[in-house]
Amino acid sequence: MSDRVINQEASQDDKNIELSLRPQYLNQYIGQHKVKDELSIYIQAAKKRQESLDHVLLYGPPGLGKTTLAFVIANELDVKLRSTTGPAIEKAGDLVALLTELNPGDVLFIDEIHRLPKTVEEVLYSAMEDFYIDIIIGQGEGTHPVHIPLPPFTLIGATTRAGQLSAPLRDRFGIIEHMNYYEEEDLQHIIERSSLVFNSKISEEAAHELSKRSRGTPRISNRLLKRVRDFAEVKEEVQISLTTTQQALQQLEVDEAGLDQVDRKLLMMMIETYQGGPVGIKTLAANIGEDQETVETIYEPYLLQKEFIKRTPRGRSVTAKAYTHLGIKLTER
Ligand SMILES: Nc1ncnc2c1ncn2[C@@H]1O[C@H](COP(=O)(O)OP(=O)(O)OP(=O)(O)O)[C@@H](O)[C@H]1O
Ligand SMILES: [Mg+2]
Repeated sequence: MSDRVINQEASQDDKNIELSLRPQYLNQYIGQHKVKDELSIYIQAAKKRQESLDHVLLYGPPGLGKTTLAFVIANELDVKLRSTTGPAIEKAGDLVALLTELNPGDVLFIDEIHRLPKTVEEVLYSAMEDFYIDIIIGQGEGTHPVHIPLPPFTLIGATTRAGQLSAPLRDRFGIIEHMNYYEEEDLQHIIERSSLVFNSKISEEAAHELSKRSRGTPRISNRLLKRVRDFAEVKEEVQISLTTTQQALQQLEVDEAGLDQVDRKLLMMMIETYQGGPVGIKTLAANIGEDQETVETIYEPYLLQKEFIKRTPRGRSVTAKAYTHLGIKLTER
């Protein structure tokens, strides 16, 4: 599914453009007003007290700017950020190596923190709470416990799956922020900013159209903008027009609500095979050939947010709004 234009995961191409597009400070970070306002207070307070910021957990769907925000927080704190991922920390020793390298106040960013090995997670508890680690080193007869004090640091964890985090780990984050899908006007703003970075002009209506079809996700906005820009360039447009935007999106099979073929396939399957539901998540995933996690982190949250499906105790059901969107009469059930 990596070739899908609305895929929320980052491709290598995305990673390259994302580096150039990443806002550096809170005032350049668009949208997520509640998260920004809260963080701004906590950051100012920590700086005033000359303490490290409390540990921060950022969770929400892929491509909403969690990694970007982690870097922004470090910039605002004026400290260094060391970046890693849950699965990359295989042993307690790896964690010790990362933590002992930090200067007081620095940020350790762990992406996909829900995938941290259990043994590492347990070592992380005392590190987060009291800034020390106790580990056993050596082999056979020679093993002995070692107490390692650590510099005070801020752990920023990011996850798309907050539910998979163990309670003891979650409880050790003083600051927990949920990232939501972006408002259309914020996305439009992001698109306009990105087009400046890409050195291409886009009309206001075109940017608005793109914002409506971006699944509330800046990564998708940026990716669609790049594709649309290609269409405009071939047509030798000085400024990306609404018409070109609509044509390009039609070509890419992204509809007015930002749904792509797979979303529509999912809804159609629920309607045609299961009379609109309720259908269990496992059955849904099996029917469209995706794994359950992908359905739960990518498709379902957006369809729920758009009110095209709803959750019921017995599974997910298609709403009347989705029937209308797909142009199917409810009575045909
Ligand atoms: N608030 C924002 N303002 C401007 N651009 C943003 C904002 N949030 C995200 N972006 C852009 O969206 C892209 C994706 O953001 P980012 O990589 O931080 O997402 P993520 O939540 O970490 O995704 P993942 O869950 O896949 O790791 C970045 O290139 C960034 O330029
Ligand atoms: Mg990320």
